[in-house]
Amino acid sequence: VSGLRVAVVGCGTIGKRVADAICRQPDMALAGIGVRSVHPAALAARHRGARIFCTEPGRRRELEAAGLPVDGELDDLLRLADAVVDCTPSRQAAARLPAYHSAGRPAVFCGGERHEDIGLTFSTLANYEAAAGRDAAKVASCNTTGLVRVVAGLHRRFGVRGGHAVLVRCATDPDKAAKGVVAGLTVSPGRTHHADDVARLVPGVRLVTQAVTAPTNRGHVALLELDLGRPVDEAEVLRHLAATPRVVTDRLPMATGELRDRFSASPRPRGDRPELVVWPESVVRTDRGVALAMAIHMEAIAIPETIDCLRALCAVEPSRGRSLRATDEALGIAREGWAYEDPVVVGGPAGRHA
Ligand SMILES: NC(=O)c1ccc[n+]([C@@H]2O[C@H](COP(=O)([O-])OP(=O)(O)OC[C@H]3O[C@@H](n4cnc5c(N)ncnc54)[C@H](OP(=O)(O)O)[C@@H]3O)[C@@H](O)[C@H]2O)c1
Repeated sequence: VSGLRVAVVGCGTIGKRVADAICRQPDMALAGIGVRSVHPAALAARHRGARIFCTEPGRRRELEAAGLPVDGELDDLLRLADAVVDCTPSRQAAARLPAYHSAGRPAVFCGGERHEDIGLTFSTLANYEAAAGRDAAKVASCNTTGLVRVVAGLHRRFGVRGGHAVLVRCATDPDKAAKGVVAGLTVSPGRTHHADDVARLVPGVRLVTQAVTAPTNRGHVALLELDLGRPVDEAEVLRHLAATPRVVTDRLPMATGELRDRFSASPRPRGDRPELVVWPESVVRTDRGVALAMAIHMEAIAIPETIDCLRALCAVEPSRGRSLRATDEALGIAREGWAYEDPVVVGGPAGRHA
């Protein structure tokens, strides 16, 4: 096996996608997947040749009896790997950080872990270089990833002073049938954590973020108003966003169900949309800046950043631009015109981004 050998622990919504994305990278290989119960995604991964490891020794027989052959336990998986991505549910993964640490394996965690438990929140366009040589990082959550792509991009060009985002969140994912409100909207109290995450990632930018959960699983929508200190030309904002990696400004359906159907009909695995969609028709000039609406495919958006985080943490690729491009080409989402070489300075004056 050549390249960075990566273990994935947890094979749910995010884990199955991370495992697939690793298999597609020319400089990475999937060492195996750690599970503790039989899920269709684990069976499918095994069928495609992935090695499966049982993270809870008492459950090994149960897995094998259900037709999932097991190659060993978590320690065996870590021995075969250079790094690990833990994709178990929110607030559960950090408990394994000491095990990864004593095995000497850098660990990437997902958006549901607390920043304080991991020590670094990562998002490629904001702080790729900060992960080098650390033993752990968490990739920002799906909504924060979307916000950072826009805010980090526009900050360099226009100088973002602050803003307000309203996140309209899906109650559940399509593969979590047992979860989610069936009617009505639920408002989250106070500010959501996304504002603090963005402030950590793009220092100097202070947002207020609020959220409402909606009975849908077709994808999140965020309404964002940014204070740039002056009105700006909508076309200029769109040109800048269109050159920002992983942001698409194509004319696409402005309804999440239709948007999902459009991508489901594409040859992409699971109809995934790792790119952030900024609807061009939604971009409006305001007295102090710009407002826009964006669509976030929550199951897919953070996958490219997770792959970049592995390269950054393991110090196998010092250049953010090269990692961005390598990830996107391998995932089949790279675009002509995306400013990979210096993604946060797309067309902008130097020196404004902290
Ligand atoms: N879903 C999203 O849209 C989304 C978006 C961005 C970030 N995230 C973040 O990504 C992380 C994972 O979320 P998810 O939605 O993928 O969760 P999920 O669909 O519930 O998948 C988690 C998987 O981990 C397994 N698991 C739990 N404990 C385990 C253990 N000790 N060893 C091995 N496997 C174990 C679970 O299986 P059993 O418990 O049945 O064994 C389940 O299959 C969370 O931090 C979440 O906040 C999620």
